Amino acid sequence: MRLDEGIGCELMLDGKKSIFSGMQATGTLTLGNYLGALKNWVELEDEYQCFYCVVDMHSITVRQDPAELRKRARALLTLYIAAGLNPEKNCIYYQSHVSGHAELGWILNCFTYMGELNRMTQFKDKSAKHADNINAGLYTYPVLMAADILLFQSDVVPVGSDQKQHLEIARDIATRFNSIYGDVFTIPEPYIGKQGARIMSLQDPDKKMSKSDENPNASIYLMDDKDTVIRKFKRAVTDSDNQIRYSEDKPGIKNLIEIYGLATGKSVAEVEAEFINSGYGDFKLAVGEAVADLLTPLQTRFDELQKDKAYVDGIIKSNAEKANYYATKTLRKVQKKVGFPERIR
Ligand code: TRP
Repeated sequence: MRLDEGIGCELMLDGKKSIFSGMQATGTLTLGNYLGALKNWVELEDEYQCFYCVVDMHSITVRQDPAELRKRARALLTLYIAAGLNPEKNCIYYQSHVSGHAELGWILNCFTYMGELNRMTQFKDKSAKHADNINAGLYTYPVLMAADILLFQSDVVPVGSDQKQHLEIARDIATRFNSIYGDVFTIPEPYIGKQGARIMSLQDPDKKMSKSDENPNASIYLMDDKDTVIRKFKRAVTDSDNQIRYSEDKPGIKNLIEIYGLATGKSVAEVEAEFINSGYGDFKLAVGEAVADLLTPLQTRFDELQKDKAYVDGIIKSNAEKANYYATKTLRKVQKKVGFPERIR
């Protein structure tokens, strides 16, 4: 089959449904990103054709230091692999290496209303935070994200609650386009992760653990060493009744029970039973040790991969080619639909 032949919404991904997700290379990934996203992604690789993108084009909507961005993007891509995503089965690549993102993004800009973009809460938040640089890219950020998703005819998109509105607009844009041109895009659904998807801040357990939190004690970073991990859990904010019990009115302890459960594979009831006679001090230490044990192999693998430049380079090249292959199929079809002239060969 020629690359530019339209084949309906199907991308012929071995009959599998496809998943797309992206992460920004800004900030340092946290335990929340790992337990809430990455770790679960590993289990999807047989059932779905998965695309995991380092969205470096989104990153420049706020000013970046170029060397730093490049370094962080590489680290994030390496971390995807270190976390266990098999790069033969999952497509792990940089957004900027596949020009279809930008090309489809432009077309979709012409199918998105300013009124829709004006409603985006993340745009409002970010423009308040970067009042000196409210650029057009920040404004059309959701359109590029829609292009990311629609380019791969994604069936499901694992996103956190903060990205629901962006997925919603992607669905609206796709539906609008389809209503004009026929069935071009698959309408993506949110992927609802399993229990434990929401890890909370260690300093304010009513807030999600975030890689952009200014207080480093609020988050466990994936590269934190054992001492740091244990120290942060010791300082975690809890209540004062000293009972390890899972309850909505004990958000700090509830969060620690969930983290310990996810790190050890134990259920809430098992965790409660294990610590029935313990106080917070012992429990926090146990959580710290369990998390450090979870992170150590990931860190070791990350270091190995960072040293093996040729191997990672090979993945970057081959996976970008694979992503580009699928992206081009959708793009050519869209270009044809909107009336761009055919390419002459
Ligand atoms: N906006 C997302 C975030 O900040 C990152 C992202 C970009 C994304 N494109 C995507 C997530 C496509 C899912 C699908 O978290």
